[in-house]
Amino acid sequence: MVLRISEVALVMLLTCAPWLTYAQSQHQLLVGMTMVKNTTAKVLGAYCLDGSLPGYHFHKGFGSGASNWLLQFEGGGWCNDLKSCRDRATTRRGSTRYMTKVENFSGILSNNESLNPEFYNWNRVKLRYCDGASFAGDSKYDDGTSLLYFRGQKIWQAMIHDLLPKGLANAEKALLSGCSAGGLAVFLHCDNLSKYLPKDATVKCLSDAGFFLDAKDIANRDTIRSVFGDVVTLQGVEQNLDPKCTSSLVDDPKLCFFPQHALSYIKNPVFVLNTAYDVWQFHNILVPSSADRRQQEWKYCKYDITTCTDSQIDTLQDYRQEMLKALYPFYKHSTSGGMFINSCFAHCQSESQGTWLDVDSPRVRKQTIAEAVGDWYFERKESKLVDCAYPCNPSCKNIIPA
Ligand SMILES: *[C@@H]1O[C@H](CO)[C@@H](O)[C@H](O)[C@H]1NC(C)=O
Ligand SMILES: *[C@@H]1O[C@H](CO)[C@@H](O)[C@H](O)[C@H]1NC(C)=O
Ligand SMILES: *[C@@H]1O[C@H](CO)[C@@H](O)[C@H](O)[C@H]1NC(C)=O
Ligand SMILES: *[C@@H]1O[C@H](CO)[C@@H](O)[C@H](O)[C@H]1NC(C)=O
Repeated sequence: MVLRISEVALVMLLTCAPWLTYAQSQHQLLVGMTMVKNTTAKVLGAYCLDGSLPGYHFHKGFGSGASNWLLQFEGGGWCNDLKSCRDRATTRRGSTRYMTKVENFSGILSNNESLNPEFYNWNRVKLRYCDGASFAGDSKYDDGTSLLYFRGQKIWQAMIHDLLPKGLANAEKALLSGCSAGGLAVFLHCDNLSKYLPKDATVKCLSDAGFFLDAKDIANRDTIRSVFGDVVTLQGVEQNLDPKCTSSLVDDPKLCFFPQHALSYIKNPVFVLNTAYDVWQFHNILVPSSADRRQQEWKYCKYDITTCTDSQIDTLQDYRQEMLKALYPFYKHSTSGGMFINSCFAHCQSESQGTWLDVDSPRVRKQTIAEAVGDWYFERKESKLVDCAYPCNPSCKNIIPA
């Protein structure tokens, strides 16, 4: 029902031999889905919103990467009330029933050394997102006629348990990664991954477009604070937030869902990859439609920066300043941390080849994102890159739609 024509074609191609030649000629790596069965998982009750089994895509590592693991959370927004969760349960965002069963592994997930020099031969896993609360809820809604599972936390744990016997239990190096709502999940689960791995394993975390700012919108309202607060309450997320964070914010522990409040409590090394004008944040935190009352003032600027007025550009520059300010303690004090805060209008840059590593991919001080992340992970040099303000950087493609 949600399958698009091209995806149907892809699935059909998968079932006959010639697809291989086709995929190879396009340098595509298509990886099938593994379902996390209720019976095999040590964690019971791990279901998508609609009760379907969760799934991941696993491509085995080889050579020098055979004992290293990259786990990548899929993103895709949140649901914050019963209606949005019910709606989501009937789409690929809330049910594996409606998901494509093959994923295109590119960028940080590519197995091609020239396209992904740091991680191409690692075990690489894409964890599909179907709970609507960044893999962190643990609750259930049942009014007798309709049932919704809020089991993100259990999905996370069940996936890990499923992967442990496949080699994850003996991991030497691991990178927990993810984009958007998956980039937020990285902050929430970063330290927990270590608990499942050998004591001497290196565990680091890369959040791509997951640094959602606790910021006011243009009408001076706390729109995102209220959306995230509702997600946390509805889905029972608070019990899974970092207790060190929640006990320091007793007046509003739900705020620990925001990376900027939780970051200083994370022990494992973190890399924050985000643009300072993240398009999702621009459209939903800074200028949500509820705040652009006449629905006109920002209508064009939201989708084409060249049409923004000077005062709108100033508003965007202030947002960038706010993000840099929120990251400053991390920039200044984290010795193990890394960052790449560029000034492009984009959202999610690690999984698409054109932004991860390409001849014309975005750069800050001549470095690509792939190099910056590699320098940080392998400790080749300090890797904290902050771009100059828009429109200074010609390597930005500023493809708006998020
Ligand atoms: C890897 O990518 C490069 C650059 O796109 C391409 O020339 C090469 O053929 C690819 N290798 C494989 C094995 O697909
Ligand atoms: C999941 O497994 C438990 C324990 O085996 C069982 O009680 C439960 O009915 C199962 N749930 C589903 C939906 O299969
Ligand atoms: C963290 O990991 C342990 C497994 O060692 C698990 O039992 C626990 O529930 C996890 N906690 C959170 C908050 O993820
Ligand atoms: C898969 O990814 C490659 C590299 O980013 C891209 O060229 C190709 O169009 C993608 N294929 C599909 C079906 O999305």
